[in-house]
Amino acid sequence: MTKKQKSLTAVTAQNHATKSSIWGGRFSSGPSQLMQDINASIGYDQRLYQQDIAGSQAHAAMLAHCGIISAQDLKAINQGLEQIGAEIRAGAFTFSPELEDIHMNIETRLAEIVGEPARRLHTARSRNDQVATDFKMWVRMLLETLDAALANLQAALLAQAEAHAETLMPGYTHLQTAQPVTFGFHLMAYVEMIGRDRSRFADAHRRLNESPLGAAALAGTSFPIDRHMTAEMLGFDRPAANAMDAVSDRDFALDFLASGAICSVHLSRLAEEIVIWSSDRFGFVKLSDAYTTGSSIMPQKRNPDAAELIRAKPGRIIGALNGLLIVLKGLPLAYGKDMQEDKEGVFDAADALGIAIAAMAGMVSDMQPNPNAMRQALTNGFPTATDLADYLVRELGIPFREAHHISGSIVALAAQRGVDLDAVPLADMQAIEPLITAEVIGILKVENAVAARRSFGGTAPAEVSARIADAKKRFHIG
Ligand code: ARG
Repeated sequence: MTKKQKSLTAVTAQNHATKSSIWGGRFSSGPSQLMQDINASIGYDQRLYQQDIAGSQAHAAMLAHCGIISAQDLKAINQGLEQIGAEIRAGAFTFSPELEDIHMNIETRLAEIVGEPARRLHTARSRNDQVATDFKMWVRMLLETLDAALANLQAALLAQAEAHAETLMPGYTHLQTAQPVTFGFHLMAYVEMIGRDRSRFADAHRRLNESPLGAAALAGTSFPIDRHMTAEMLGFDRPAANAMDAVSDRDFALDFLASGAICSVHLSRLAEEIVIWSSDRFGFVKLSDAYTTGSSIMPQKRNPDAAELIRAKPGRIIGALNGLLIVLKGLPLAYGKDMQEDKEGVFDAADALGIAIAAMAGMVSDMQPNPNAMRQALTNGFPTATDLADYLVRELGIPFREAHHISGSIVALAAQRGVDLDAVPLADMQAIEPLITAEVIGILKVENAVAARRSFGGTAPAEVSARIADAKKRFHIG
């Protein structure tokens, strides 16, 4: 025997736990330690305790309403469950891995407190519909919390956008100077992105809101239950229409993770822009002390660690989405224990997204934009070259492709002399295109270039202010 084989034998021979009081009837001995270790989910699914208690209370109320348990049983069950809730909140509840999961931990404690009525609670129910119900309600609560957090982030962005609707900065494509825009305009792009994230979470909420409770193991139940009653009590729109689907479905977790992955990617783009803007080469914004850290060796440093961590969070969240898609791929209906692997990724992604949104909102509210640095940056990269080409088309009737070429020649001349476009003497421009008049000088000023882009959704300050007012209404901010 190899060393490894020997240690495996030792493990199988080790003392077996006692039989499960919940499902041990047909067993003559309990599970091995390894079986318990691989099986237990209580380490993480205790986060479902509130939902588990609410689900059991609704189930018990329905059983009593339908004459399946007595009113006294219901009363005892409710009191016991209230006590358990208080114990857990007070940190006075002992979660045992031998009892596998939150459902059996609570049910076992209930039996300790109220005795026999606790053993009637699981009538017409399975852990399969129970866990699906608990987890759905948890994700539903999460979606509501995230919506509020995202609205708060939008409010922070809107406040900065309002204060800087007229602050000029370079707009970039390929991270090369493109055209002048305003800082407020740039931030409003993120208000729209976050708005779509909120709408994806709202879609997920709407689709999720069908109750699995009463689907039992997979096929429904022969007891005369009322699934509409429990659905309503637990805030669902209706009971899920197919019991087998109800216990097998984890689309709600995937919907959250997919929408959360997109949201985290949006946050990472803003985080990266903040890293760039706050670098000393750009200096477009100064982050507050509250959202920067120092270096242990370089005393001058103010590092944008929060932004960098937000930039990194999609790693976890996209990872959790991939992980759950792979768990569910090819899994036959109905429930398989594989599905217990649905929770950790969701919890981790939820925590990561929650802190990223909150930190981003704090960082955005606190940051101090530097309009002078942004204005100074506009003296590089010829940001009004498009305006020059547009002028040649609009005022002189030159076809755009030719106008593009002429502007390119004027840019080359300015670059050669190391001056801004509006510093190229008129005569030199006219040597390239004789039709050009003095009117062009005004066209080449960044202030005018920005003010001219009044098209709907354009960067002109008046248009930005109108869109800010509209966004506040559309997203119910302020
Ligand atoms: N802890 C389990 C889970 O998270 C609960 C459902 C167990 N169902 C079962 N048939 N073993 O999925």
